[in-house]
Amino acid sequence: MKKTIFGKLPDGREVHQYTLKNRSGATAQIIDYGAAVTSLKVPDRNGKMGDVVMGYDSLQGYIDGTSYFGAIVGRYGNRIGKGHFQLDGKDYQLTINDGENHLHGGKTGFNKVLWDAKAGNSEEASLRLQYISRDGEEGYPGTVTLIVTYALTDKNELRIDYEGTTDKPTILNPTHHSYFNLSGSFDDTILNHLLMIDADGITPVGKGLIPTGQIESVAKTPMDFRTPMAIGAHINDENEQLVFGKGYDHNWVLKGGAGKVRKVAELYEAGSGRMMTVLTDQPGLQFYSGNFLDGSAKGKNGAAYGRRSGLCLEAQAFPDTPNKPQFPSVTLRPGQKYRQTTIYAFSTR
Ligand code: BGC
Repeated sequence: MKKTIFGKLPDGREVHQYTLKNRSGATAQIIDYGAAVTSLKVPDRNGKMGDVVMGYDSLQGYIDGTSYFGAIVGRYGNRIGKGHFQLDGKDYQLTINDGENHLHGGKTGFNKVLWDAKAGNSEEASLRLQYISRDGEEGYPGTVTLIVTYALTDKNELRIDYEGTTDKPTILNPTHHSYFNLSGSFDDTILNHLLMIDADGITPVGKGLIPTGQIESVAKTPMDFRTPMAIGAHINDENEQLVFGKGYDHNWVLKGGAGKVRKVAELYEAGSGRMMTVLTDQPGLQFYSGNFLDGSAKGKNGAAYGRRSGLCLEAQAFPDTPNKPQFPSVTLRPGQKYRQTTIYAFSTR
């Protein structure tokens, strides 16, 4: 594993970039700031490597950025209504950083902190990152220790394993926030990518993108990705959910029971032949079609990432679960272990 200096934080601490390379020549680069994947190079159908994730050239981009490029998001991926919840009868108020709501862990989420990194101890090329989030950080109770291990397997899979513990009852729902464009170029939108999501329902949202608490069938709606569909096919339909999200920005209720790693989604780009299969043990998948990108972020090699030029597939529990007792729980108690495995597997056809 190659380790280089990526930059220095304002307080003088060094940020490093690690390069994982597998036996088939694919590479993943990760920085210890935000535990962010900064590049992911995988072959197209002719064997030509292409970088399929968004990122910045320099540390300053990650420090200033507001789009969570490639980062580990936490403690809570996605929104908590009004940043408020109760646990064991106690009230907690989290930082408000998205309208009147809490998003992606708050002002200084896991994407804006320096993690401790070391080589993983598996056979594959892997990196183990640890962050200790203190009691009260962004309003969350309990000191949480989260360990995230990235592995780049010889089968061109980026596997992300999470392990979390706490010293007081708390909530934990981290996720990974890479923006993908399988063409390897971010000049084009992702509207021609074909997407399949193995889900019969979504958790519909209201204004502000907080779930209503219902589960709505995808049948006969633009949310029906049960068989592969071009993302652009219905993204501009007159549909209340698409209006609220300014496109796709919703949680799909995955089939096949959480707790078991299973295939939940497939993304395909015909030009390059690249296919990405998503496997996870999580109950939900947030599909975000990059609606809020506006070309203002200065990306790698001078790229101006335009609206819908990349998309996120974020495996996680459902948004606003702490206020929706009917959703699968995100409570973590002392003595318990939080676990997640999510795999982005690359192939071609
Ligand atoms: C959310 C979007 C949000 C974006 C931030 C996504 O995970 O679903 O609503 O704007 O992250 O870049």
